[in-house]
Amino acid sequence: MTKLRVQTFTISIDGYGAGPSQDLQNPLGVNGLELMDWVFHTRVWRRMHEPADGETGIDNEMAELGFTGVGAWILGRNMFGPVRGPWPDHSWKGWWGDEPPYHTPVFVLTHHPRPPLEMAGGTEFRFVTEGIHDALEQARAAAGGRDIRVGGGVSTIRQYLSAGLIDELHLAIRPVLLGSGEHLLNGIDLRALGYKCTKSVAGERATHVFLRKRA
Ligand SMILES: NC(=O)c1ccc[n+]([C@@H]2O[C@H](COP(=O)([O-])OP(=O)(O)OC[C@H]3O[C@@H](n4cnc5c(N)ncnc54)[C@H](OP(=O)(O)O)[C@@H]3O)[C@@H](O)[C@H]2O)c1
Repeated sequence: MTKLRVQTFTISIDGYGAGPSQDLQNPLGVNGLELMDWVFHTRVWRRMHEPADGETGIDNEMAELGFTGVGAWILGRNMFGPVRGPWPDHSWKGWWGDEPPYHTPVFVLTHHPRPPLEMAGGTEFRFVTEGIHDALEQARAAAGGRDIRVGGGVSTIRQYLSAGLIDELHLAIRPVLLGSGEHLLNGIDLRALGYKCTKSVAGERATHVFLRKRA
């Protein structure tokens, strides 16, 4: 059965999934790159982005999980890029170059309509203006029985969590402080929503915590 998964989503120990003031120079907000200083070392990441080998180990295994069995993705518009408000044109095609690492349909939540965008390697960005339930329905139809990964950002995950729709959540907790930015869980009572921690694994540079919603 298709599951809705959050995987490899990284937060600081004070709970932020992005720093403040996201823009072209700071895709993850100010100081936000510090969050990702575990994934950048992994073989999975390096092979995807550079002709380099990277490290194997627990963090690498955890990063690999995120791409297994995924048939569609859902992203928020801020994760897709730094453009805010109505699209001035269609020149922004995501942070990931001509061949993004998704290789599936990717449903981008936005209030601003835009035609679908086909990229090399099987990724197609489809822009959804009718909200999280509509995006989920479309992703489910596209996923071909495989899972749907909610890639982020923070606001998008918060909405699916608050609606109790996420089945499994893997958080990578980095030992850094951001102090401000986009907080992942503030005001969301995961316990009351039926989530519980099922596993915790210490990686080389992050601690991996797995949560699941009770059936
Ligand atoms: N820590 C990690 O592992 C990780 C992973 C992925 C991303 N990130 C970071 O997270 C940050 C982005 O997170 P974010 O919370 O700012 O934003 P986000 O969730 O990526 O996107 C929010 C935007 O998406 C659109 N949107 C969201 N829900 C919608 C709905 N129900 N209906 C219609 N449109 C909707 C709105 O854009 P419009 O109104 O403008 O259309 C909204 O402002 C980035 O810095 C990114 O790099 C971190």
